Amino acid sequence: VNACGRRVLGAYAGAPVGARLHTAIRYATAPFGPLEAKLPGVGRFLDYGCGHGVLGLYLACTESGRRVHGVDVAADKVTVARTAAQRLLPAGGVEFQVVNQSWFPPVAAYDAVVCVDVLYLLGAEGASRTLRSLAAATKPGGLLLVKEMASSPRWKHSLTTVQERLSTGPLGLTQGVTVELLAPGWIRSTLESCGLMVEVARMDKWRPHPHLAFVARRPQ
Ligand SMILES: C[S@@+](CC[C@H](N)C(=O)[O-])C[C@H]1O[C@@H](n2cnc3c(N)ncnc32)[C@H](O)[C@@H]1O
Repeated sequence: VNACGRRVLGAYAGAPVGARLHTAIRYATAPFGPLEAKLPGVGRFLDYGCGHGVLGLYLACTESGRRVHGVDVAADKVTVARTAAQRLLPAGGVEFQVVNQSWFPPVAAYDAVVCVDVLYLLGAEGASRTLRSLAAATKPGGLLLVKEMASSPRWKHSLTTVQERLSTGPLGLTQGVTVELLAPGWIRSTLESCGLMVEVARMDKWRPHPHLAFVARRPQ
């Protein structure tokens, strides 16, 4: 855990114990450091499906020029995220909002858009609609960063599938209409069909989950 990670996790000190555990596990298992390194240091950011806000707060903590707008359908998570934001950055810079399933971001409004481990919860049609709207929300010259899971190696893929079925089902940790891991080639071609230049990066070295990032840039 680096200094910003410590500060971010510390901001959840007053949260319910379940949320504290969830945020600590999320920070430990998701590649937030490598994702952060792909993003610009300044500008207006959208964190689509922000959950408890760990990534959004981490982005704002690592570079003070980032203004983060986090949105999620889970009102309980957004409440936790807001309280942590007030603790970490009382002067502002991060705003969390509850949205409904049919919310779409404003067009060409963000310098960077991040969407981390959300698309697999939306079904293929929902994921397609969402990707297109996130691409449209990215300004010319801006960046859309999507992270999902790769389909290989098989053991990492199987581990992820079991874990996500538990999280969305009996454990009730994640709100989603389905668990449908999407083919990486489909994500790439959808982004390219929106006019973005896509670089794909694996982020799973020494990690049990097959993290795969799509770094998609909208030309000027
Ligand atoms: C696995 S969590 C990832 C949270 C966060 N992005 C992170 O990396 O820690 C998936 C999140 O997507 C949210 N979500 C599901 N469907 C959504 C939708 N239609 N619009 C916005 N958020 C959604 C869930 O409520 C949940 O918080």
